[in-house]
Amino acid sequence: MIIRQRPLHPIPSSEITPKSVFDDRRRVLKTLGFGGLAATMPLWLPGPAEAAWRPTEGKALSGTPHPKYNAQVLGQEPASLEVVSTYNNFYEFGLGKGDPAEHAGKFKTTPWTIKVEGAVEKPGTYDIDDLIKAEDIEDRVYRFRCVEAWSMVVPWLGVPLAKVIKRLNPTSKAKYVYFETVFDPDQMPGQRRPTLEWPYKEGLRMDEAMNPLTLLAVGVHGQVMPNQNGAPIRLIVPWKYGFKSIKSIVLMRFVEKEPPTSWSVANGREYGFYSNVNPNVSHPRWSQATEKKIGLNNIFGLPIRQPTLMFNGYEEEVAAMYAGMDLRKFF
Ligand code: MTE
Repeated sequence: MIIRQRPLHPIPSSEITPKSVFDDRRRVLKTLGFGGLAATMPLWLPGPAEAAWRPTEGKALSGTPHPKYNAQVLGQEPASLEVVSTYNNFYEFGLGKGDPAEHAGKFKTTPWTIKVEGAVEKPGTYDIDDLIKAEDIEDRVYRFRCVEAWSMVVPWLGVPLAKVIKRLNPTSKAKYVYFETVFDPDQMPGQRRPTLEWPYKEGLRMDEAMNPLTLLAVGVHGQVMPNQNGAPIRLIVPWKYGFKSIKSIVLMRFVEKEPPTSWSVANGREYGFYSNVNPNVSHPRWSQATEKKIGLNNIFGLPIRQPTLMFNGYEEEVAAMYAGMDLRKFF
C-alpha cells in the first residue's frame, strides 16, 4: 500500500417546516410561476424556526432524550466533555490525539452546505439548517468503539440519518451512500500531507444508513459539536469502528456500487468496508477482544479494560442486516 506512514492506527500503545408553512411556501411559489422550479427545490426553505440551532461552537444545544439510548439504560456514565473533546482522531488536524483540539479552533463551520447527488430525486446543495431541524434533534448516549481498541460512552446530539434520507427520496438505484469530508488544506494542515487519500471518504450500505441507530450528529454533551469532534455535522454509526463515523461532511452521494473509503484505500487488508465491531475477528496487528475505557482508571490509576461486545453491544438492532454473511470475509 502507498501509505506506510506512521501512524496507521499505532496500536497497541495504547423539518420539519410545519406542513402548513411548507404548503404556504409552495402555494406562493406556484402563484409566482415557480411551480416547476419548486418541485426541484429543497423541501426545506429557510423558515422562522431555523435560527433555533446554528453550528456555532460552544453554543448550548439540547435534544429530546431518547427513551432507550441513555446513560441509565446503558448502565454507564458518559465520558466527560473534557475527555470527549481532547482525545480525538481527526487526521486533517494532525496525527496525535491532542492535535485536533489544539489545531481545529479556527476551523470555519458557518456557513456550511452539503451537496446531495447521485441516485436521488432531490439533489442539490443544501444549507445545513435546511437538512437539520432543531425540533428533530435527539439526545442519544451511545457506546463508541475505536478500531484502536479504546472506547468511550458519548452523549451525542443528532438526527437519525434515515429521517434526512427519506426527505431526499433516493431512487431504487441507490444501494449505498457515500460521504466526503470538506477538502480545505488551508484550514486543515493535515491535508497537505498524503497521510490518507483526501478528502476523507466513507460509505454505508443503504440498510445501514437507514438503520434507526445511525445518526447525523451536530452536538455532544449539551453543546454544538466542537470543531475537533467533526463540526458542524458528522456521522455516528455506533456498531462500527469509529473510523466509519466521518466528520465535517460536505457531500452525500447515493450510488449503486460499494464506494471506496479512505481506510480501505489506504490499507484494504487491515480495514474493510463493513468494519463492524467484532471481538472475534482480530485486526491483523492486534486483538479486538477487549478495549480500554478512555478517561477511566481503576483505584491503582491503571486504565480499565473491558470485553468488547459483538456489534459493540447493538447486536439486537443490527445483526439481521448481516444474516448469512461471513463476517470474517466481510470485515
Ligand atoms: N473523519 C475525518 N474526516 N477524519 C478523521 O481522521 N477519524 C475517524 C472518525 N472520523 C476521522 C474521521 C476515527 S479513526 C475515529 S476513532 C473517530 O472519527 C473519532 O471521533 P472523535 O474524535 O469524536 O472521538
